[in-house]
Amino acid sequence: MAVQKLKEDVYSVGAIHWDRPVFDELVELPKGTSYNSYIIKGSEKTALLDTVDPEKTYELMRNLDTLGIEKLDYIVAHHAEQDHSGSIPDVLKRYPEAKVVTNAKCKGFLLDMIDVKEDDFIVVKDGDTLDLGNKHLKFIFTPWVHWPETMISHLEEDKIIFTCDFFGSHLATSRLFGPKDEMLIYEGAKHYYAEIMMPFRNHIKKHIAKIESLDFDMICPSHGCAYKNPTFIIDVYKDWVSDRMDNEVLIPYISMHGSTKKAVEYLGDTLMEYGIDVKLFNISEVPVGEIAMALVNDATIVFGTPFVLAGAHPSIASLAYLANALRPKAKFASIVASYEWGGKAVDHITGMLGNLKVDIIDPVLIKGEPKESDYKALDKLAQTIYEKHKSLGLVE
Ligand code: FEO
Repeated sequence: MAVQKLKEDVYSVGAIHWDRPVFDELVELPKGTSYNSYIIKGSEKTALLDTVDPEKTYELMRNLDTLGIEKLDYIVAHHAEQDHSGSIPDVLKRYPEAKVVTNAKCKGFLLDMIDVKEDDFIVVKDGDTLDLGNKHLKFIFTPWVHWPETMISHLEEDKIIFTCDFFGSHLATSRLFGPKDEMLIYEGAKHYYAEIMMPFRNHIKKHIAKIESLDFDMICPSHGCAYKNPTFIIDVYKDWVSDRMDNEVLIPYISMHGSTKKAVEYLGDTLMEYGIDVKLFNISEVPVGEIAMALVNDATIVFGTPFVLAGAHPSIASLAYLANALRPKAKFASIVASYEWGGKAVDHITGMLGNLKVDIIDPVLIKGEPKESDYKALDKLAQTIYEKHKSLGLVE
């Protein structure tokens, strides 16, 4: 990423990873990602806020050259994960006088994970301020966005908050403040929230309240876009972490010979007739990120699976495991399962949803090709979902 000026003596010096396909070997990155890192040149001291993934260290170094940074006093580590901390050892080699400024928990993690020494650190507490001369950086602890040590900082004079993963998006873009199409910004942020932040929504609610008491007009995360209009990202986050749900049913399914597919498509059509939105995803074709995004606000999830080896299809079982880990706010769940000689697919799926606060609606089990009685059972399932949504005021 070319150096970009944010405000007087505040620059973005991170790296764009245009072609990274996957993060944590789990989250697909259809639009790449970035590791945003920032330089603040105070009248007395210079600070680097977070570094970049080790694979992109050369790009960070080149940007520090471009800015002519000959002396670095501080490297602020908001979060220990290596996509932000991985270049710290190389930066310390280049600027041996620099100190890593972080909290005690993050220091412990960094000592475990990267090549740093005990005396490389300055440890700060919640509310402490780093004096750079004419600029001051205040630290605010925001644990569990998304590790227990995460914190943000507030550059008080310039009204910027640096939030690291919090409010991030996996989006490679040459425009630090995002592409012209706002929908791309929204989707990038929602994808990131769904797969990284959603399990921590109760923590996030509290952190947003804390952040709103600060005086700022710019949010600079360490992935994807920065925001000159902080209200945009704060408002969408408030919605995602709230208890508000969409009148929508997510139906992730897989079908081996077409019976499950026929059944869930019929269910989807019937729900639409009730005025309920549907997202019907064949999970062998659709990226997991699309499904995770639907989990953010959907009120109901219906898993569609054939029986395989006496249980659910392994791909649906894997998705149920992920949905349980992401802890979406859905209130209802059910299963449409196709079988021939029996098994325990329903128990298998429901047994994996322990983190979800869902009422399980009676599943529909179909022997072979769906028949008249099966379509009636699917009608009943659709009607029950309609009544449940109505009880929450989601549908007329
Ligand atoms: Fe972007 Fe949790 O690291």
